[in-house]
Amino acid sequence: MKHIHSYYSPNDLYNRIIDGLNELGLDLAKVTIDDLQPVDEFHIRGDTATKELIKLSGFTPDMHILDVGCGIGGSTRRLTHDTGCRTTGIDLSDEYIDVAERLTQLLNMQDRVSFQAASALELPFADNTFDGAWSIQMNMNVEDKLTWLKEVCRVLKPGGRAVLYEVCGNKNTPIYVPVPWAQDHSMSFLIPPEPFRQVITDAGFEISAWNDKTELARKAFAGVTEPEGEPDLPELGVHLLVGNDIRTKAYNLHRNLEEERVSLIETVAVKPGS
Ligand SMILES: C[S@@+](CC[C@H](N)C(=O)[O-])C[C@H]1O[C@@H](n2cnc3c(N)ncnc32)[C@H](O)[C@@H]1O
Repeated sequence: MKHIHSYYSPNDLYNRIIDGLNELGLDLAKVTIDDLQPVDEFHIRGDTATKELIKLSGFTPDMHILDVGCGIGGSTRRLTHDTGCRTTGIDLSDEYIDVAERLTQLLNMQDRVSFQAASALELPFADNTFDGAWSIQMNMNVEDKLTWLKEVCRVLKPGGRAVLYEVCGNKNTPIYVPVPWAQDHSMSFLIPPEPFRQVITDAGFEISAWNDKTELARKAFAGVTEPEGEPDLPELGVHLLVGNDIRTKAYNLHRNLEEERVSLIETVAVKPGS
């Protein structure tokens, strides 16, 4: 797990984000959740996908929701911003958690949104704590998917929903690397949708929604071409999170989608009970 941790631990990330905001001419006292979205929503189809998940989740203002593998907290903040619910995000990377906390303070959302560095395989919460949970594109880095999902099930209250938006394998292997979630094969643990569905139910959940989003992902990456020469990167972008080879990673993701090497699943899994 160490190499996954170091992959998601860039140096001086917060200041580089602040520099990016300054270069864009934004007033730091007036930064909005939308201004941060190019850098803080690190998953396929970004904020658009997060808003679709919020709709699907049915999460309401009275709820406390756990975001497992929250990154720097963009979708955690979006969830609280759009629904009013309280959120707690956890992530393996302490660097990301530090940035998540500082960006949350910048947006003055710290009353409703908090973070903690922790592993998804060992959640630091008591049984039956949360009204709901979500995980957005984390499972690719997790080999032991059963332990992750059992942990999510354990900390949910009976009847609580887990919303998962996850990259899975597909008909063909291997995937091209590097990809946005992995520099090489040692960091990526994809399983096809059917075994993924099975492990969710093995962990104790009942599946109440299962949407294949692969075609939307394929369309979103359809125009991505092979990069040539030095990349011309924007002031703010996910390259700040995982490196300047992001264009190569995006191109490989495009190829993996076109050649049916990866798929994308959105699902709602319910912990049984009332
Ligand atoms: C592709 S990023 C997605 C981040 C965030 N969910 C988002 O959509 O912006 C994957 C995240 O999963 C985290 N992660 C990977 N393995 C983890 C684990 N075992 N426990 C907790 N977080 C993990 C990484 O540190 C990284 O922040």
